[in-house]
Amino acid sequence: MEKLIVTGGTKLEGRIKVSGAKNAVLPIIAASLLAEGECHLQDIPQLADVDTITQVIKSIGVKVSTTGNKDLVLNAGELTSSEPPEEWVRKMRASFLVMGPLLARLGHARISMPGGCNIGSRPIDLHLKGLTALGADIQMSHGIIECSAKKLVGSRVYLDFPSVGATENIMMAASRAEGTTVIENAAEEPEIVDLANFINGMGGRVYGAGTNIIRIEGVPRLKGANHTVIPDRIEAGTYMIMAAAAGGDVLVENVISDHLKPAMAKLAETGVTIDEEDSGVRVRSRGRGDAIDVKTLPYPGFPTDMQAQMMAYLTTARGTSVVTETVFENRFMHVNELRRMGSNIVIEGHSAVVKGVSRLTGAPVKASDLRAGAALIIAGLVAEGKTEICSIHHIDRGYEDLVVKLTGIGVDIKRKVYPDEVEK
Ligand code: UD1
Repeated sequence: MEKLIVTGGTKLEGRIKVSGAKNAVLPIIAASLLAEGECHLQDIPQLADVDTITQVIKSIGVKVSTTGNKDLVLNAGELTSSEPPEEWVRKMRASFLVMGPLLARLGHARISMPGGCNIGSRPIDLHLKGLTALGADIQMSHGIIECSAKKLVGSRVYLDFPSVGATENIMMAASRAEGTTVIENAAEEPEIVDLANFINGMGGRVYGAGTNIIRIEGVPRLKGANHTVIPDRIEAGTYMIMAAAAGGDVLVENVISDHLKPAMAKLAETGVTIDEEDSGVRVRSRGRGDAIDVKTLPYPGFPTDMQAQMMAYLTTARGTSVVTETVFENRFMHVNELRRMGSNIVIEGHSAVVKGVSRLTGAPVKASDLRAGAALIIAGLVAEGKTEICSIHHIDRGYEDLVVKLTGIGVDIKRKVYPDEVEK
């Protein structure tokens, strides 16, 4: 078993560079299936999730290569199958993003239902509602979804919730449908805009991405394109919260500060000094901040993917904070682990009431999902002594070169192998 060992009490100082956005790369790699030509993608983070989606597209005939410099060259000229193997699809929910492109390209896709997840039931009804509106016939049996369409025809789709994945899947399918598709109540996340820019670079016609109404004029063919992926706003926000919690002076580089407005505003409310500089966002903090209330919402609201990290910071704030989760039904798995470290948190429905304590104490804890894992590192920074985090494969899904990067700003963090212990 591998663990992360964090020793608390150090102030953070220096510069830390953010990688390309995981949640932009995954749909963009799926979208490369739409093009007959070669796609060159830059700023690709080396992460387990990126590896998974790459394996998914390889398994259906995409030729994948790299020059070794954080890039990927993808050629989907000849697809050999519309049925990616279950072993890869079940590993990661985002694998389902190949459904829309496969349907558009081959008129058929057979994909296993996305696997269970620790942060709520996460259905795919909105993905299927959109694809059905475009003319797909959908059959479900034995955990497999089979989708077919002789041709896709543009349509109007209203999303009951602005789902990121459903917006992406529908956008990709619609980009090669006949006629115009309008997605109403679409997700507005920056990753949607990045995907739209990539599709348009391939010759697509997507308008309005970044607003809640997206219009897609279908085209018969898409060609290869070059694209550089946007920086990861969740990774950036995580480092900003780390600096706020531990105290110090950190410049988070390679960010689009517009994407970080909610995190910057909430950190400033806690008393942290945030400055937008030419090369990034600078965070200066004395450590323990003031309690605040936080409510997660679809973009441009406060991101659910930063909720756990923010809560970890607030465990030692002065006063009582209320953290409300509205995007996912069950995203408080980190609370029990934070309690093991001495925090005072009570869950009331969709809210967690966090009474700030003066300090946490290091303890053995378990990362239940990616962002919960990041939260435990933050808690470890403000804890007395050592925090041992297990199940760190979750953290590897979303933070490239984490130990090297964090060590660079003064975090006392080590990765250690325990040959005699096995993951339970
Ligand atoms: C994406 C992000 C994830 C982030 C989430 C919300 C990727 C790869 N992942 O996930 O990190 O936490 O957005 O910002 O980009 N829902 C339905 N029916 C559907 C689809 C979703 O009810 O068909 C619900 C979900 O259960 C959830 C909410 O909508 O409660 C948000 O999900 P969604 O926006 O789809 O998240 P993902 O695209 O899975």
